[in-house]
Amino acid sequence: MKNRLIRISPSILCIDYNDDIVLKLALDKIEQSGAHMVHLDVMDGKFVPNKTFDHKLVDKIKDMTSLMLDVHLMVENPHGMISDYAKAGADLITVHYEAYENTDKLEDSLKLIKSKNVLAGVAINPKTPALKLKDLLKTGLVDVVTVMGVNPGASGQTIIPGSAEKVAEIREMDKRVYIQIDGGVTLKNVSILRRMGANIIVSSKAIFEAKNMKKAIKTLKGGGFINRIFEDI
Ligand code: DX5
Ligand code: ZN
Repeated sequence: MKNRLIRISPSILCIDYNDDIVLKLALDKIEQSGAHMVHLDVMDGKFVPNKTFDHKLVDKIKDMTSLMLDVHLMVENPHGMISDYAKAGADLITVHYEAYENTDKLEDSLKLIKSKNVLAGVAINPKTPALKLKDLLKTGLVDVVTVMGVNPGASGQTIIPGSAEKVAEIREMDKRVYIQIDGGVTLKNVSILRRMGANIIVSSKAIFEAKNMKKAIKTLKGGGFINRIFEDI
């Protein structure tokens, strides 16, 4: 799986996103530094202990940037929120597998997301085995699998061992699906994650705390042949 185009999706979780000036500067800076998307971590204080923002912030960000909006819903009942995020301008909406453990509605949510012309993602927590997605991947309803490298809820955690292997397992099951790695990505561990098949790289700390953001994003992208050819497209 060499030479696949790598997409970079910086998460604004570690900046002061409630300050409009800070937010606008951050969005401009990641765009100018070569990011493709902006990763928006929605937390409801129930599915994860922390609470962040809702679709109103996504709506605001849509007017501030032309980057793709990558919405990661860490919420208890995502189904009823999908329309709000699609309306706010999300390009990718990711729901958690674990939010549906006691229901069979996950496929319905993915269908709903796709009916809005939005890419559909499914995230799995570190404790959820990759195999749980096997049948779902066969349905063709999943555009993106998000492998959580950490327990969701906060930026700046250390990646949990076995995350790269989990990426490889998903890649083995599905050669086509985008695999997003989220949480604990560093400039050091990114190359193994890419080699195992990850092609959307989420990072908050490694990007926003880098001394040179452009250089950090370049390192996260890697030097793949296709990446260089399409760099300016
Ligand atoms: C964690 C979030 C991540 C987080 C990543 O629950 O889903 O998107 O912002 O932050 P870093 O890259 O700092 O681990
Ligand atoms: Zn996230």
